[in-house]
Order: sequence, then C-alpha cells, then structure tokens
Amino acid sequence: MLTVIAVIISYLLGSVSFSILIAKWVKGIDIRNHGSGNAGATNTLRVLGKGPGTAVFLLDIVKGVVAVVLGYLLSYGEWTAVLCGLAAIIGHNWPIWFGFKGGKGIATTVGVMASLALWPTLIAGAIAIVAIAITRYVSLGSLLFALSTPLLILIWQKPQAFFWASLILCIFAFVRHRSNIVKLLQGRENKLGAKRR
Ligand code: G3P
Repeated sequence: MLTVIAVIISYLLGSVSFSILIAKWVKGIDIRNHGSGNAGATNTLRVLGKGPGTAVFLLDIVKGVVAVVLGYLLSYGEWTAVLCGLAAIIGHNWPIWFGFKGGKGIATTVGVMASLALWPTLIAGAIAIVAIAITRYVSLGSLLFALSTPLLILIWQKPQAFFWASLILCIFAFVRHRSNIVKLLQGRENKLGAKRR
C-alpha cells in the first residue's frame, strides 16, 4: 500500500512542470507555444534565457531526486525507489496538471538515475556534455545520455532494478525525441545558441 501511495505522489510531483510554471511567471506565456514547443529546460533556455533555463533544469532534477528518496523512505526497497522515479518522469512527460502535455524527461531522468546509480549517471552526463559541446545539439546529448546509462549500469554491476529503470527511461527518451531524431537525420535540428528553425 505504501508503495502505491509513494508512486502516486511521485507522479503528481513529476507533473509539476517547472518550465510551464516559470515561463508563465516570468513572461506570462505558455512555453508549449514557443520555440520547440517542449516543456523543458532546453526550450526554456531557448525562449527565456540562461537564468530561467538553469532554474528549470535544476528543479526538474530535484523532482527526480525527491521521488527516488520518497520511494526509499517509504519502502527501504530498490524497486519502490525505481517505480517512484519512473512515475516522476511519466508525470513530467504527461503531467496531470497541464493536460498531459509535458516535456521529454531528460533532466528528471538525470535526477532519478543519479539518485539510483551516481557514477554511471555522472559518466553518462559527461558523455552528453562533450557531445553537446562538440555538436551544439542538446537532443543528441540527451539521447547519448539515455543510451549510455544502461550500458554503464551494466558495467558497474548495479542492481537489476536500476538496469531495468535505465532501459525503460532510455526507451522513453527515444519515444519523446522522435521529432528531434527526424530533424537530426535531416540536418534541421536546432543548435544550442542558434536562432530556431
Ligand atoms: O531534453 C530535451 C532536449 O533534448 C531537446 O529539447 O526543446 O530542443 O526539443 P528541444
């Protein structure tokens, strides 16, 4: 029963879309009608600048961390922590408070995976940062992060629950980045700092 309650709370917490709230607060706009239309840190950076973009990135990470901690606190078990983390990301991507139209879940995935398996997540994050620095494609960095996390968790021989979590999150990331993947393949993807196409 405690697990069910923790998962529901995590979903509701994940549904708090900081990009939507901050864009509304800072500029009175719905971020989903601007830039890439995504309710996430990258699009907040693109539309509103570094301060709001950084705030959204950090708050979305914290959301993932809090969900995992809640799972551990209420169950002492890895699986509840994993389910709470997944629920937070599902909430972020399909938020109940905002018509189920949310973001792509990468920052919250960083928070969830860092809480479950710190070193694999940090290395996957470093891979993503290098890829973004070289190509200026945030989406490519996000996808490399999502792909490398399960591989690194296998290498680190972390608990099975964490591997399955990272694999599901990798699938989520690819599903949510479908339009980015098409644009990357067509050479039409937005570069960080460039005017949006
Ligand atoms: O995490 C989202 C990022 O990978 C892509 O965002 O706004 O360029 O679609 P966006």
